[in-house]
Amino acid sequence: DDAETVLDGDSLLVVSNRQPYKHSYDEDGSITVDRPAGGLTAGIDPVMQETDGTWIAWGDGDADSDVVDEHDRVRVPPESEAYTLRRVWLTEDEVDDYYYGYSNQVLWPLCHGGMWKTEFADEFWTQYRDVNETFAEAVVDEYDDDSLVWFQDYHFGLAPQMVREGLPDAFLMHFWHIPWPGWDTFRSLPNCEELLAGLLGNDLLGFHTDWYCENFLDCVDEAFENAFVDRDQKRVRHDGHTTHVESFPLSIDYDEITSKSADADEEWFEEFRRSYGIGDDVQLAVGIDRLDYTKGIPERLDALARLWEEHPEWREKLTFFQKGSESRSRISDYRELQEEVEEAVTRINRRFGTDDWTPIVYTEEMLPETDLYGLCRHSDVALVSPLRDGMNLVAKEYVAAQRDEDGVLVLSDQAGAHEEFGDDAVTINPHDVDDFVEQLQYALTMDESERRERMRRMRQRVEQYDLFAWLRDSLSTARDVKHRRDTE
Ligand code: G6P
Repeated sequence: DDAETVLDGDSLLVVSNRQPYKHSYDEDGSITVDRPAGGLTAGIDPVMQETDGTWIAWGDGDADSDVVDEHDRVRVPPESEAYTLRRVWLTEDEVDDYYYGYSNQVLWPLCHGGMWKTEFADEFWTQYRDVNETFAEAVVDEYDDDSLVWFQDYHFGLAPQMVREGLPDAFLMHFWHIPWPGWDTFRSLPNCEELLAGLLGNDLLGFHTDWYCENFLDCVDEAFENAFVDRDQKRVRHDGHTTHVESFPLSIDYDEITSKSADADEEWFEEFRRSYGIGDDVQLAVGIDRLDYTKGIPERLDALARLWEEHPEWREKLTFFQKGSESRSRISDYRELQEEVEEAVTRINRRFGTDDWTPIVYTEEMLPETDLYGLCRHSDVALVSPLRDGMNLVAKEYVAAQRDEDGVLVLSDQAGAHEEFGDDAVTINPHDVDDFVEQLQYALTMDESERRERMRRMRQRVEQYDLFAWLRDSLSTARDVKHRRDTE
């Protein structure tokens, strides 16, 4: 209802690379539908269902093209057909160059500050531009007078300007889910000006933190002599168009995770420990990550090895459970990271493990939600140690699942989430192994009242600013900006 009120008759036209529903063929030839899994798709989906919007996304399921109508549309979810999903088809070359190439080997590393990991290739750029054009055409095609166009993420840096050319009066907004780097890093990008101009086609551009907003404004200021950057009003005037730039820290469905973590009770935990051979006299630390080099997993494993080496009292007293999810494996940096993590786990377990104790339990298996939230609920410490991370929703999920308020969050100061939790988390710099070890030790021995106090404050923060607050905040700001634009 909230979203409907905020939308006030407008309907959402969402554009994202990943789709909220995916049709695939089973072995027996029947078609199955995968549900939204990621935080964002899961979060926007209910609003779309309530307000009957349109969602444009890449159709990457092998049965996707067999269930759409002649306009490449399908009504979703299958049981209620509440809104329209418009699928965009990409050739393998396009996927290679736009998705694996420009999005994930140029923009992803660059925005995370990894200039040295960036692979520039002309065809990456041309295909990125062409695919953005294809999505822009789909937007123009699906657009209605009451549409509010909402681009998601770094896959669509150029599409806003392209849509603006076709629909000068459309209201366009964009949320950039990854960090925005400083000019000194961003300027190394060939085509950096085209990207900035592409994003300035939006009326409203959102980032997770004020810091990323500042970085973006710096880039615009440096790149364009004729841009007027108004930091007080948080807006940019460029090429006859005004773009508002604001921060909206993305969040999670607090109530749902808190309530789901209740299913993982003491009995569940006992069974879980038994199935993974984790004794009941050891403390449990947990890490849950996509296998991405920005997540700082090797650095985390180094710190743990150092802890067991220098503080032998933690041997047989602390087990670390790492859940890794395979990601973007066609890119060699990702494959290398997967190997590096597996090797480090094997090495550490060989070195410190005993007949009764495995220091690190590592799995890449899909875990049911109950297990994931249960792990978060019952573990003593969570290790969230990215080298750089736009937000990191695992940190927030951990906090939401901590219904007994008895765990400690160890959090990198390089994660957007750190801006919100500050010193209520135990702060580390993932590159500083000595300090990491010290903070681990501190987290593991923290007294109960301090643990509870910190956890309570973090939980309050997430409860107050949950996913729906983020949605309301984003959409009501959009409405204000639109109103101002149309009356000025
Ligand atoms: C990050 C990005 C998302 C992306 C997700 C998973 O969180 O901000 O846009 O969907 O990673 O990555 P993938 O490449 O599999 O979509």
